[in-house]
Amino acid sequence: MPFTGFSFFELHASTNIKPFECGDNDLNGFLNDKAIPYKKDLLATTYILESENKTIAYLSIYNDGLSVQENHFASKTSFKRWIKEIISHPKRHLRQFPAIKIGRLAVCETTKKETKGIGRALVNFVIDLALEQNSKCACQLVTVDAYEESLGFYEKLGFKFLSENDKVKDTRQMYYDLRPLMNTLNQAPN
Ligand SMILES: CC(C)(COP(=O)(O)OP(=O)(O)OC[C@H]1O[C@@H](n2cnc3c(N)ncnc32)[C@H](O)[C@@H]1OP(=O)(O)O)[C@@H](O)C(=O)NCCC(=O)NCCS
Repeated sequence: MPFTGFSFFELHASTNIKPFECGDNDLNGFLNDKAIPYKKDLLATTYILESENKTIAYLSIYNDGLSVQENHFASKTSFKRWIKEIISHPKRHLRQFPAIKIGRLAVCETTKKETKGIGRALVNFVIDLALEQNSKCACQLVTVDAYEESLGFYEKLGFKFLSENDKVKDTRQMYYDLRPLMNTLNQAPN
């Protein structure tokens, strides 16, 4: 993490979680009540960025499969176009795509201005992890069910909307395609 003065680490069963307030009760509650049990049950891995006296940001991720159906799209043509773009093999029968999911991501509300760039750095951390994982086990996408208030943030970072049909819901499915970065890495001289 490019932030000096903070420590960044993976949460474990005996982590003493420092106070956190991001302005969203669900996200605050997850860190306090669920992050450790989810870690024990292998349901989510949480990473914490903290200062001496408080939690500055956290991120919680897990393995996912993005399921895609025709009714996610406005028309059969746009569905077929999407599938063609995501699968290069001519037999395009797959409807589930391997991914790492950003389950939770939140930055401390009161210090957000001073720590500008932390949200981006945490998402880049996930992208790097997913690229690394590809040497052992395929992962095509990073996914997130993004809150309405954070759609612009994920768009800025290169995430795309899966569907036009979830605009009315509390969260929208978004994905980041790892292939362009993976191709660049594969072409880079050793
Ligand atoms: C959304 C969140 C994680 C962003 O973290 P952050 O540290 O403030 O974001 P960054 O400073 O890294 O911003 C990266 C870029 O996105 C932009 N951005 C940040 N939040 C944005 C938003 N809500 N809408 C549009 N753009 C946004 C920034 O201006 C910055 O752009 P720039 O590089 O051109 O200046 C943080 O605001 C947060 O915790 N929000 C509350 C919880 C939440 O919504 N979490 C997401 C759950 S899915």
